[in-house]
Amino acid sequence: MHCYGDLVNYISCGIILIGFWHLVDHKRAQSTYGRHIQIGLQTRTVPARLAWFLQETPALLIPLLLMLTSDKPFCMGTYLLLGTFCMHYFYRVFIYSLLTRGTPVPLGVMVAAGCFCSLNGSLQGHYLLHCAQFDDRWSADYRYKTGLLLFYFGMAITIHSDYILCNLRKPGEVNYKIPKGGLFEYVSGANYLGEIVEWLGYAIATWSLPALSFAMFSTCFIGPRAYYHHRFYQEKFKDYPKLRKALIPFIS
Ligand SMILES: NC(=O)c1ccc[n+]([C@@H]2O[C@H](COP(=O)([O-])OP(=O)(O)OC[C@H]3O[C@@H](n4cnc5c(N)ncnc54)[C@H](OP(=O)(O)O)[C@@H]3O)[C@@H](O)[C@H]2O)c1
Repeated sequence: MHCYGDLVNYISCGIILIGFWHLVDHKRAQSTYGRHIQIGLQTRTVPARLAWFLQETPALLIPLLLMLTSDKPFCMGTYLLLGTFCMHYFYRVFIYSLLTRGTPVPLGVMVAAGCFCSLNGSLQGHYLLHCAQFDDRWSADYRYKTGLLLFYFGMAITIHSDYILCNLRKPGEVNYKIPKGGLFEYVSGANYLGEIVEWLGYAIATWSLPALSFAMFSTCFIGPRAYYHHRFYQEKFKDYPKLRKALIPFIS
C-alpha cells in the first residue's frame, strides 16, 4: 500500500491538539468516567468489563488486519508494531477488561474511546507498515534499544499497578480504598505513570511523529487525572500517606 504521508502528519498533529485541548479543559475531562463521574438519570452506561473490551478492541484489531493484508515482507516496522503497540492492546482487550471491577462507563465515553482507538490504531499501523523507513542498523541504534527498554519497563509498571487497583475491591464492592504496594508507595497515579513511560518509550523506539503524538496525548489526558485522583485520596482519607506524590515520585 502507498504511504499517505500528508494524512499521517495531519492526523498526528490533530491528536496533539486534542491532547492539549484536554489539558486546558482538564476539569471537564475528569468527570466523564470513573470516580469523578457526573451522570444524569438519563445517561446510558455500559458495564466496565464490556466497555473496556469493546472500546479497546479496534486498537488491536485494525493494526493486525493491516499487517495481515499488507503485501510487504516482515520488516522492522512489523516487529515494532507487534512487539509494542499490539502487545499493549492485547493486554487491555483480553486481560484488563476481565480484571476490572470498575464503575459502569457512560455509553458516549465508550464510543468516543472506541473512535479514538480506531483512529490511533489505523495511524500507528499504517505508519509503521507503510511509511516508516527503518534500515538494518536501526535494531542496533541506541534510540531503538532505550525506547524498547522504557516501553517494557512502563508496561510492567502498568500491569502491576492495574492489578493492585483491580484487586482493592471484593466482587460487588463500589467503594474506594488506599492503594498499597509497588509504585503506589510513591505516587497516587502509578498506573498512569506506567502508561506514560510506555508510550514515551514507544515514541523513542519508533522515532516518529505518530508515536510522539500518542505519547503527548496520553500525557495530557491521564497526567491531570493523576492529580485529581491524588486530591480525591487526600480529601477522603485522613491517614493518606503524606509523602506520596501525585504522578512523579519525590517531585509532584
Ligand atoms: N493512553 C491513554 O490515553 C489512556 C487513557 C485512559 C486510560 N488509560 C489507561 O487505562 C487504565 C485505566 O484507566 P482509568 O482512568 O480507569 O484508571 P483509574 O481511574 O485509576 O481506575 C482503574 C480501575 O481501578 C479502580 N480503582 C481505582 N482506584 C481505586 C481505589 N482506590 N479503590 C478501589 N478501586 C479503584 C477503578 O474503579 P472506578 O471505575 O470505580 O473508579 C477502575 O476500575 C490505566 O492503566 C490508564 O493508564 C490510558
